Amino acid sequence: MEKQQLRSQQWFGKKGKDGFIYRAWMKNQGIPAHELQGKPVIGICNTWSELTPCNAHFRELAESVKHGIYEAGGFPVEFPVMSLGETLIKPTAMLYRNLVSMDVEESIRANPLDGVVLLCGCDKTTPALVMGACSVNLPTIVVSGGPMLTGKYRGHDISTSDVWRFSEAYRAGKMSDEELFTAEACMTRSRGHCAVMGTASTMACMVESLGLSLPENAAIPAADSRRKVLAHLSGSRIVEMVKENLVLSDVLTRRAFENAVIVNAAIGGSTNFVIHLLAIAARIGVDLSMDDFNTDNIPLLANLQPSGKYFMEDFYYAGGLPALMKELHNVLNSSTITVSGKPIAENYLKSECFNREMIATMDNPINEIAGIVVVKGNLCENGAVLKPSAASPALMKHTGRAVVFENIEDYKAKIDDPNLDVDENSILVLKNVGPKGYPGMPEVGNMSIPKKLLDKGVTDMVRISDGRMSGTGFGTVVLHVSPEAAIGGTLAVVQNGDIIKLDVAAGVLHLELSDAEIIERKNQLKAHVNLSSRGYTWLYQTHVEQAHLGADFDFLRGGSGSEVLRDSH
Ligand code: FES
Repeated sequence: MEKQQLRSQQWFGKKGKDGFIYRAWMKNQGIPAHELQGKPVIGICNTWSELTPCNAHFRELAESVKHGIYEAGGFPVEFPVMSLGETLIKPTAMLYRNLVSMDVEESIRANPLDGVVLLCGCDKTTPALVMGACSVNLPTIVVSGGPMLTGKYRGHDISTSDVWRFSEAYRAGKMSDEELFTAEACMTRSRGHCAVMGTASTMACMVESLGLSLPENAAIPAADSRRKVLAHLSGSRIVEMVKENLVLSDVLTRRAFENAVIVNAAIGGSTNFVIHLLAIAARIGVDLSMDDFNTDNIPLLANLQPSGKYFMEDFYYAGGLPALMKELHNVLNSSTITVSGKPIAENYLKSECFNREMIATMDNPINEIAGIVVVKGNLCENGAVLKPSAASPALMKHTGRAVVFENIEDYKAKIDDPNLDVDENSILVLKNVGPKGYPGMPEVGNMSIPKKLLDKGVTDMVRISDGRMSGTGFGTVVLHVSPEAAIGGTLAVVQNGDIIKLDVAAGVLHLELSDAEIIERKNQLKAHVNLSSRGYTWLYQTHVEQAHLGADFDFLRGGSGSEVLRDSH
């Protein structure tokens, strides 16, 4: 590419006062003049933050990216965007996913960048960065931070899914405060994000299967030096991508999204995958709907927690995502182009599997049932999702009477009440935790089992809500009910004792009430959206779309390209 064609030269290539201003202030960082004279300028979009522990090693990772950029003849500039630490940020990191995406979009477009490297790790940082970058559509490559090493506690391998087990054991009096305290440090013993197939690892697999990263990005542990090698190589590759003008929309075709859905089924990925992929597709202009997520023919191939036994570290040693994708070759769109500029099949065909207990074959899978099932019915006209590999087979077809919690506070007040009228056949229903009802749509859908049932040894029940579930959670949990209760969806009218029918195989979630009765009850409904009076939460509640559309803001769909329309200098 000629120097004048580089976008960054609209800044650094100018003569007179404008060029002087653009260049002079960069030089206060000790940058020699030649760095600004026609080299591709690569932004490293960094979600480093000590408040995002999963991404706390990203300054170091960025250095490796820079080495690669310099080596290939580019000029790197690292810039921060808001970071989202899943465990600390309140009320929920998802509230800010769209805000971060705006930060990313505007930061990229407003600055003299020719290409971008996105450093992503903790759950929401990946979709937020990809969404924002899609709306600009420059050459872009993703480098994930990598999972933690497997935790070790009293001779057992542990990771984030054990938080739920520990908490149930604690509530049942089987684990002491001291044991719980000790387990904390044992679980998170290295840098990196959650080491199971939770949302962060699901997102890392998503970007690799979409073709947005170099191969092996998904599973190399954060603490493994090969993670830095990948970052270095990605830095070199983005410079080439700028020269080839290989932009995001060249990679993110409809067929690439189909691949991501297939891979997500085979890895047992998080239900959050649905909401994020829908939002990304809408940004890049690919037509994708809830119906595209049903993948009956794809079995579970990855034996990873929370659906299986192993951890992300084991996945990498077994061959990682390339080895798994090789098993899927016959069902994948093998010719889609990735950031390498080559067909995706080249990323995986030469890979090998070193542990068949970890990565199974299509002929002998871990579980015939996998993926995400979308259910529909009068309780969720626009759909709801369930992850069958994390559910109990016996509950996949179940009819029970509803035990209703009107909101999260109601649930917390009643769930352990010995007088709660509930038994193991009941269906727990939680309302008003959808995008508008509880801004950010928190991960509370896998409600705890009522204590009195827990004491009887009950470990799973059908649970239904308009909220989300942590990717590390499990159970027979129906999530993302759309339309949500707060905007008058049928969920809002469910009452204690109503009969609900779930039939996963048939894709049905049905409230056993006549249409007339539902309409009658809806007419009695009072408005549930407690609209915030100002600020970002007001913006969120006013503009967030329903879960089946990806819960993005209505005004952020699509993109505005990379052109800066007005120039004040
Ligand atoms: Fe960051 Fe799990 S808390 S990935």
